[in-house]
Amino acid sequence: MKILVTGGLGFIGSHTVVELQNKGFEVIIIDDLSNSSIEVLDGIAAITGINTAFENIDLRDKQKVQDFFKKHQNISGVIHFAASKAVGESVENPLLYYENNIHTLVYLLQELQEQPKANFIFSSSCTVYGQAEEMPINEGASIQIAMSPYGNTKQIGEEIIIDTAKVTNINAILLRYFNPIGAHSSIEIGELPLGVPQNLVPFITQTGFGLRKELSVFGDDYPTLDGTAVRDYIHVVDLAKAHVIALQRLLNKENLDKVETFNLGTGTGSSVLEVIQAFEKVSGQKLPYKIVGRREGDITSAYANTDKANNVLGWKAESTLDEAMESAWKWEQKIRS
Ligand code: WQD
Repeated sequence: MKILVTGGLGFIGSHTVVELQNKGFEVIIIDDLSNSSIEVLDGIAAITGINTAFENIDLRDKQKVQDFFKKHQNISGVIHFAASKAVGESVENPLLYYENNIHTLVYLLQELQEQPKANFIFSSSCTVYGQAEEMPINEGASIQIAMSPYGNTKQIGEEIIIDTAKVTNINAILLRYFNPIGAHSSIEIGELPLGVPQNLVPFITQTGFGLRKELSVFGDDYPTLDGTAVRDYIHVVDLAKAHVIALQRLLNKENLDKVETFNLGTGTGSSVLEVIQAFEKVSGQKLPYKIVGRREGDITSAYANTDKANNVLGWKAESTLDEAMESAWKWEQKIRS
């Protein structure tokens, strides 16, 4: 079965391509290389032995999206990662985010609805919950007013899919990620943040390697055990495996609704200081850091209620924070060597 993975050269996308190929799926990648590099194809091939079909397409070009589906008639499913995802950048440049994250989704769905098999997996985010009232967060938690245009594009994206699935043959699963970290055990693929990392773990590993002077911890005055903010850090390979399981659910017509939603996390919250401790444990070195003020838009705490993913999807995260951090550190050392 041929599966289209948009953004397949990105962090989560590339790890998902590997897991799809491990399960025998034929994959074709669309990526515009705006936040990834073509060498990732070599990393995937080093793991699976497969030279993955790849087309460099900007999904904002409606004609190119139409041409792609004319050329590839037998797509059985689409896993849609391609999107801009930097929260801060989205505040500075909202129209870039609304164009790149919304127009592309509409063009994809317009073509997919014409396909005999219209199965769609959407990369969403726990950011849609904002600061949820209750921890752990379940899928029924209320959707808060988005704190950033990036988060808003995920909320709008979910609504577009729900409205479209109602009146077309499209079946979809929305996967709300918590905080993906780490790298494949082969260290052939991993996270490749461009410029100064916005996310915690790549900033930690770059600091550990000496590329950054010190980590700034954004606030230690949160109402948490140690005062630093809490998140649910999930190994990217666990996340990738969930995508394959969700796709198989749709292909086997096991979904109970036209659109289903799952939180993908470990179910465990970790504070920033606990993540630093995990790094120090796996690397055997102290991490230089300083406490600074809170980052605009950050929430206190978010970690997943994993019951639905465990019991309905039949998926559970396997890696611990330490294991995920160790893979991230090994990857950092490899790409800098
Ligand atoms: C984690 C914690 C920071 C950097 C965002 C998006 C989410 C998803 C993941 C795309 C927070 C603290 C961070 C630093 C720090 N992205 N931190 N110093 O903000 O939870 O989630 O990225 O899908 O949608 O919202 O992740 O890694 O930026 O921050 O203290 O240099 O680490 O304050 O508490 P976040 P993050």
